[in-house]
Amino acid sequence: MDKLLTIKDVAEYLQMSKEKVYKLAQQGKIPVSRIENQWRFRLEKVDAWLEANEMSSIVITAQESAALRIPTRAEPFLKWAGGKGQLLRQYGTFFPKEFNNFLEPFVGGGAVFFHLFNSGRLQGKKKIFLIDSNEELINCYLVIKEDVEKLIKILSSPKFINTEETFYKIRAEEPKDKFERAARTIYLNKTCFNGLYRVNSKGKFNVPFGGYKNPLICNSRNLIAVSSALQNVEILCDDFDRCLKLAKKEDFIYFDPPYQPLNKTSSFTSYTKNPFREEEQRKLCQVFRELDKRGCKVMLSNSDTPLIRKLYKGFRIAIVQAKRAINCKASGRGEINELVILNY
Ligand SMILES: C[S@@+](CC[C@H](N)C(=O)[O-])C[C@H]1O[C@@H](n2cnc3c(N)ncnc32)[C@H](O)[C@@H]1O
Repeated sequence: MDKLLTIKDVAEYLQMSKEKVYKLAQQGKIPVSRIENQWRFRLEKVDAWLEANEMSSIVITAQESAALRIPTRAEPFLKWAGGKGQLLRQYGTFFPKEFNNFLEPFVGGGAVFFHLFNSGRLQGKKKIFLIDSNEELINCYLVIKEDVEKLIKILSSPKFINTEETFYKIRAEEPKDKFERAARTIYLNKTCFNGLYRVNSKGKFNVPFGGYKNPLICNSRNLIAVSSALQNVEILCDDFDRCLKLAKKEDFIYFDPPYQPLNKTSSFTSYTKNPFREEEQRKLCQVFRELDKRGCKVMLSNSDTPLIRKLYKGFRIAIVQAKRAINCKASGRGEINELVILNY
């Protein structure tokens, strides 16, 4: 369970007076619980308030964070199309109870990895592999792991401000330095429309400016927590079939590929310049079967289509309800069935 913060912790964390925190809590703006007549705050609620109030000027360094002994709950640092955050509650019963190493070959924003990490399920694991074929994404993970303070310094500099002019200027840039590249990717993700990552056929990021009032571009606390979560993790930019070289009996592999489109117009397959077509879905199914034969525990998410049901016939197929988010037409939103395929 998360550590509960006192009013003093929150005041230090938000860099404001205790009186101000008291007032915000009294007004119901930051949710607070009364425990043995003392006010206690949950960090995630404070963060939610921080994010909603877009206090992007607040930068908390690793030292300050350590001094506060803020619990190291790490969350996805990018909004990612197909992110599994909203499904974690339903997924809870599907994760295997026991497993050796953990591999996530389509890691994206990493909602499942961070969830397993935060709930202590990855503690003591010898090996954790996070893989994705999106170079910019993997560069962010590597940079956050290597030197998060350096990244925070760049990302919180005045260069990365939320104006339309700056957005298009930064979008057009192609920095060579890996830290500048990661800062650019995170900046674009926080300021672009709908927080999407989408590229054109040349691999160029093509999402327009979001025009949000004051987004939290540099969430230092979370970046520091992510960096600490990644210290024991091997991060690879590669195709999903790399896991065949890495996975052993009793390892848990979670696959969250780009989904098989429900119809010709509903596809969102542009995470990288290489589309994920039926051919890739078939290859993935072969990889799933190979890992199954090896004695691995394999879980896969996908859309509920005749092809996916046919490919995975014979395995346990469960249905979850998902909110469709990546669709600009209101008619394309709402709840839909998705599949979870398990070999255990
Ligand atoms: C549905 S998203 C994963 C979302 C992730 N589970 C989350 O919670 O954010 C699919 C991911 O697969 C990656 N991808 C696409 N083709 C790939 C391939 N051939 N090998 C590895 N990763 C690939 C994309 O870059 C994208 O990040």
